[in-house]
Order: sequence, then structure tokens, then C-alpha cells
Amino acid sequence: MSSPLITTFEAAAPRYDSSGAQFAGPVAEQLVALAAPRPGDQVLDVGCGAGAVAVRCARAISPDGQVTGLDLSEGMLRRTAAEAAARGFGNVRTRLGDAAEPPFAPASFDTVLASLVLYLLPDTEPALRHWRELLKPGGTLGFSWGIGPDPRWSPVFAAVDAFAKHAGFESYVRRVGSPDELAAQLAALGYTAVEVTTRTIDVRYTGPRQWWQASWAEAPRLAWQHIPDADRDTARRAAFALLDRMREPDGTLVRRVRMAFAIAERPAAESPVTARPATSDGASR
Ligand SMILES: C[S@@+](CC[C@H](N)C(=O)[O-])C[C@H]1O[C@@H](n2cnc3c(N)ncnc32)[C@H](O)[C@@H]1O
Repeated sequence: MSSPLITTFEAAAPRYDSSGAQFAGPVAEQLVALAAPRPGDQVLDVGCGAGAVAVRCARAISPDGQVTGLDLSEGMLRRTAAEAAARGFGNVRTRLGDAAEPPFAPASFDTVLASLVLYLLPDTEPALRHWRELLKPGGTLGFSWGIGPDPRWSPVFAAVDAFAKHAGFESYVRRVGSPDELAAQLAALGYTAVEVTTRTIDVRYTGPRQWWQASWAEAPRLAWQHIPDADRDTARRAAFALLDRMREPDGTLVRRVRMAFAIAERPAAESPVTARPATSDGASR
């Protein structure tokens, strides 16, 4: 399968998460810390991209565990394999497949993780349902998603979107829902021990040019590629003019992104389902 969305990630794969600005890494760090995979675990990293989650799990599950990175972009799978090899991890393998319907037998994994992926799927519910089936009883699901873009940056994205042929970035992704909505959805799907934590991640760019490099090589490329080639430089200059006025005293740019992290379990034995309300800023329950 090669949807326009996957074609975009395929094009972005060689430079994905390599601008130097840190976003996927800190998000993955937080997700893996919350999910806490253990030595010997079988972990599935759904929509593995360049392996931000996979490489952070690989050490925790050593020596006998294994991480499987799943993606529909072959370029991303090569990135995950290369990042794991560069760190000397021999326990990361990759597999081509759809996040919404991963090609594995039921109860194959102790942990299923998906960082920055759910908002790209056509429908969250079938994916969450499938991921539950892939977990062994008592296994852990963890995923991250954005819940609040930095309002100071709205004029920048509006300036870029004004050049898009059809519609801007928001039209290429789906709204995943609030922490409370996701907690309720997970409980309704039979997950237990549902916990949703929120955090603000500060993404710091050396300046407008590094922001552009990150933007072009990551999910916002979905919007950039809908700007005609002839207009792309003008759109970038419009963004740069705004960004120049937003620099911190040291010349850097900071984007404060609100993120949510859901952790849930497939019950060890089928039992009544409970959902707890979401908490903020680290008050994980
Ligand atoms: C925003 S990136 C996140 C990558 C990585 N999880 C991270 O945190 O850096 C989304 C990834 O999901 C993949 N992806 C999107 N839709 C997918 C699908 N239906 N099945 C498998 N992978 C998918 C993309 O190819 C891309 O690698």
C-alpha cells in the first residue's frame, strides 16, 4: 500500500528527525519511561519512523527481548534498522505493515507502543482494537499524541497554509481527541489501568532555517508539498519574516507543544473495565 501520506513519509525518511531540533526523541523518551518495558519483553513499535521509540526500548529489554519496528514506509524501516545498528543493538527487527492492522498473531507482544502515529490513521478505534488483540494478557499499550499546538506559532502556520493549493496541515491529519475522550475510548475497548498524562515539550530551533529543515523532513511536509513549487520559497520567506520577530534573546526559536501519553493494559483476566480521569503535567495516576 502506498497512500499519498506514506509517499510523503517515504520522501522524508532519509532526513526524518535529523535536523538537530529535538521533538520525536523527547516524546519517545517520555512514552518509553511511562510504559516501562522490562528485560525479555517483546515490544511492537507501531509507525516506528526513524526508530525514536525502538532504540529507547532496545536497551531496557536486553538481553533477551526484541523490538519490532512496523511502518508502511520502507525508507523509515531502513532508518530504524540503521539507528539500531549504529547503537550496537542487535535486538531490533523491522517489518513492513499497516499500523491499523499489524500483521502479527494475537497475543504476540508484551508491549505495543505508537508515538506520534494515531493522528495519521484514518480511524483510531480499529487500530486501538487491533493493538489490544496483539497484546499478551497483562501486556501494556502506550501511545502519544499532540493536544495543543503553541498558539504563538499559529500566525506562522497560517502564513504557510495560505499558499497551500487545497488546504493546510490540519486537513491532512485527524483530531485524536482529548485525554478524557481517549481514556474513555480505551476503557470502552476493554483496556484497564488506563492512565493519561500530559506534558509540554519545548522544541528549540537554532533559528528559522533549522525549523524549515525539520518542517520539511517531518509530518508538516504533508502541508508543504501541497504548496506549488513556484510558491514554496515565498511561503518560506513569509514564515521566516514572522519567525525572525519571535526569536528568544539568544536568537533561538522555541515551540511549546502540549502532548498527551496514554498507558493502558490488556487485562490479565477479563474483568470489569474502569477508566480514570486524565491528569495534567506529570500527575500520572
Ligand atoms: C510522525 S512519524 C512518527 C515516527 C516515530 N514513531 C517517532 O516518534 O518519531 C509517523 C510514522 O508513522 C508511519 N505511518 C503513518 N501511517 C501509517 C500506517 N497506516 N501504517 C504504518 N505506518 C504508518 C509513517 O511512515 C511515519 O514513519
